[in-house]
Amino acid sequence: MIFIFVMTGLMTGCQTSTTSQSPDLYDQLGQRSGIAVIVEDLLFLIVDDGRINQSFRGVNVEQFHRLLTDQLCELSGGPCHYTGRSMRELHADMAITDTQFNALTENLILAMEQNRVPTGAQNRLLRKLIPLYPDIRNL
Ligand code: HEM
Repeated sequence: MIFIFVMTGLMTGCQTSTTSQSPDLYDQLGQRSGIAVIVEDLLFLIVDDGRINQSFRGVNVEQFHRLLTDQLCELSGGPCHYTGRSMRELHADMAITDTQFNALTENLILAMEQNRVPTGAQNRLLRKLIPLYPDIRNL
């Protein structure tokens, strides 16, 4: 009986430690509220960035903030659903260059740094964005 109890305890311990070694990306980003703060910081960085701020003139900031937050929340495994237009449709007429794409990505990394997102989690989110690249660049 004691043996079974100890084994059960050990197995539970193993499962717990496996989980803590690989926390959910969504949790590492601070869930939806944390992602919303990251996106807010990203918007301030975009406004200050001469490489891309012209592209965002006249954009509905509240809607942009909500939709990008939902998108990153969903991509990171959170319980959100992005309801905006497709990436290809949205960015089709913008002729976005690699320099502009990289500038936005740099700002996203900076915003995550400002919110103390661990580097590994930053990279995991960036990896989720890679499949969007051809649609955003309209390739
Ligand atoms: C990782 C790269 C990117 C992601 C994940 C992304 C994501 C999004 C999302 C979710 C929206 C919808 C928001 C809305 O409808 O208001 C959006 C819209 C928009 N994006 Fe991007 N984007 C990226 C790169 C870029 C770049 C590099 C630019 C320009 C330099 C850009 C310019 C815009 C603009 C101007 C809108 C508003 C379009 C409109 O309101 O019609 N995006 N983007």
